[in-house]
Amino acid sequence: MEFNPPERLFELEESATLKASEKANAMIASGIKVYKLDVGEPDFKTPKKIIEAAYSAMNNGMTHYAPSLGVAQFRQAISSKYSVKPENVIATPGSKQGIYYALFSILNPGDEVIIINPAWPSYKQIVKLVGGVPREVNANEQFIPDIDEVESAVGNKTKAILVNSPNNPTGAVYSKSTIRGIAEIAHDHNLWVISDEIYDRMVYDTEYVSFLNVMGIEDGLILLNGFSKAYAMTGWRLGYTIGTKEVVKQMAKIQGHTATSPVTFAQIAAITAINECEDDVKAMVSEFGRRRAKVISMLNQKGLKFTVPSGAFYFFIDLGRYIGKGVDPASYLLENAHVSTTSGAAFGDKYPAFVRISYATSNETIENGFGKIFETLKV
Ligand SMILES: Cc1ncc(COP(=O)(O)O)c(C=O)c1O
Repeated sequence: MEFNPPERLFELEESATLKASEKANAMIASGIKVYKLDVGEPDFKTPKKIIEAAYSAMNNGMTHYAPSLGVAQFRQAISSKYSVKPENVIATPGSKQGIYYALFSILNPGDEVIIINPAWPSYKQIVKLVGGVPREVNANEQFIPDIDEVESAVGNKTKAILVNSPNNPTGAVYSKSTIRGIAEIAHDHNLWVISDEIYDRMVYDTEYVSFLNVMGIEDGLILLNGFSKAYAMTGWRLGYTIGTKEVVKQMAKIQGHTATSPVTFAQIAAITAINECEDDVKAMVSEFGRRRAKVISMLNQKGLKFTVPSGAFYFFIDLGRYIGKGVDPASYLLENAHVSTTSGAAFGDKYPAFVRISYATSNETIENGFGKIFETLKV
């Protein structure tokens, strides 16, 4: 049968981050040694206690459908962590799915969502997928949004501002005044704030400010987080969204007709993650911190200009000085240095000369990968 995809899918782009990684994996499969600095997930194992908790949850019969809002004990644990009510919490299969449900719940077709570039590519695609329109605003040279520019992007179709601090791909962590500034714009123009706080544990040399510190759920905050990054649980597909009871209810309706719920025993295991794995998280974050310091020192030694990231596990670097105009630096590095990074173009039109480099990988890969990059670019 001839396949004619529906029009709304023409606009949808493949995940650039996954695509880049797949290309590198194909080279590896063909026997080429590739240093992978494209990964968007911790290279650590999920802490043992969490795995054991999942195993015993399975043995105790937590292998059936869960309510579409999530398992009650899980929602209770998240509500305690954030000092909100369980009715404000929904469990989702990864925070990514939560973003989809949240946008689906609040947007009418044609409504605009302000996205601050450089931005994680899925935001734009999810907005389009649910019939919304992304309205992109570029951050400044330090990858911090200018509050006046964000405000001038607000129009009569604007429904929400989507924020991600600590940021993927830049590692930028927004200050309290920036977070407050965005919250004030949302308040003044009656907009939702969708805050993706998935990298909240990976913050260095600076204070971390959650939107919950400056506004309440009733003011229109929809906060997303999950277990993928902080607990090295990407494959467990578990996240959560915090919002008003009404938003959460709509999200549960969508979930009820699609995923049903995230994996039941993963939710039980995640309670152990929250209550008993603080030391594991701290150990992982410290190791990321050491790697970050190593990369900073390597880049400084070579005199390469970059903005120091304060969080997440990425560097977003402009290679325009080293690579010809019109050449995609990520493809160039993959072909010539056998180092896999992610093309800056994936994160916004203004960044084709940039690459995102992840240090969520071994010290050996970091050292050799950067060594190859420097050699190839003749830095
Ligand atoms: C900014 C950002 N938000 C959300 C996600 C998705 O996380 P999850 O595994 O919870 O769906 C990612 C994953 O790379 C991310 O970088």
